[in-house]
Amino acid sequence: MAKKITFLGIETSCDETAAAVIRKNDQGTAEILSNIISSQFTEHKKFGGVVPELAARAHLDNIEYVINAALRESKIPLDEIDGVAATAGPGLIVCLTVGLNIGKSIAAFSNKPFVAVNHLEGHALSPGLEKNIKFPYLLLLISGGHTQFLIVKDVNEYQQLGTTIDDALGEAFDKTAKMLDLGYPGGPNIERFSKLGNKKFFKLPEPIINKAGCNLSFAGLKTAVLREAKKIGNDKQMKYNLAASFQNTINNILNKKTKIAIEMFKEKTGQKNVNLIVAGGVAANKTIRENLTKLSKEINFKVVYPDIKFCGDNAAMIAWAGIKRFEKRLLDKIIVNAKSRWSLDRDAPYMKGPGLKL
Ligand code: KG4
Ligand code: ZN
Repeated sequence: MAKKITFLGIETSCDETAAAVIRKNDQGTAEILSNIISSQFTEHKKFGGVVPELAARAHLDNIEYVINAALRESKIPLDEIDGVAATAGPGLIVCLTVGLNIGKSIAAFSNKPFVAVNHLEGHALSPGLEKNIKFPYLLLLISGGHTQFLIVKDVNEYQQLGTTIDDALGEAFDKTAKMLDLGYPGGPNIERFSKLGNKKFFKLPEPIINKAGCNLSFAGLKTAVLREAKKIGNDKQMKYNLAASFQNTINNILNKKTKIAIEMFKEKTGQKNVNLIVAGGVAANKTIRENLTKLSKEINFKVVYPDIKFCGDNAAMIAWAGIKRFEKRLLDKIIVNAKSRWSLDRDAPYMKGPGLKL
């Protein structure tokens, strides 16, 4: 029997300090030997968002404990681990370097292979932790920093079909929550308070809904929310109505753009059966899951969501991406640096900023 591959994964790209030990099992999925996450929720709560210097400091304070806890809980001694994977980008450099440097040091001193993981590849391959899904599949990646439709052709092989031309979806949720004073982190609070509101109360814009393929835009929606938020002041019920209307608008946008992405996927791959994977922090939103599941029944595709614990940032998905790259001998040298920007599709056009033609 082939030896099972076991990796230590480390993640510090944003506001979660995380480490995990993951082993590939005989079914080709993962055995989660440990998955430790230390959230910086309290550090950033009073500022209503992530403060880079505070985040980096919190990573420094917590990383040693988190890695030790992950190793201890896994009951696997370091010398039995086959390699170390750490997130090297995209993200805040001050944060990334904390996990990346310690990952490189552990690999160097224990003489293990090292993999510098693209955080987005972590999300993209995360469904593989639980399920065997054949390539190619369509990925809707919705997180705090990214919003993209991609064809996942294989490990390390991605084709971008569409992306946001301004804010990321998680960012739109977080900013809306901040404007409505509904607390941090924004996404889960918008979902919670939306249940108390009337989702049809406000008619909000759906930017670029009828153009630009499956590219997305949320800036105009955010501005409209700001305008309405100023008018309603402290009226609680109106805030809930606005939160619900915002979330409903997002669902309408995702519904329309997903239909377009499905058609593009079919055309580009020649495949009639589509597996849509919805990953990233925002994929935890139940209304988005219900909306896309409903769509999947209407137009006949299969939709897969990673377990909620693998949607938000975690190191299990980084260790898993490490294992998948290790199997393909996609290893990195110890001198590898952190990258703030790092696109999964190397040929994808940069879609932000003035002068953009849609
Ligand atoms: O993937 P993630 O943990 O970090 C990044 O890679 O960015 O995503 C974090 C984002 C945040 O913007 C957060 O508000 C959003 O995911 N989020 C949600 C929900 N849970 C987390 N957005 C909407 N509804 C949720 N339930
Ligand atoms: Zn993420």
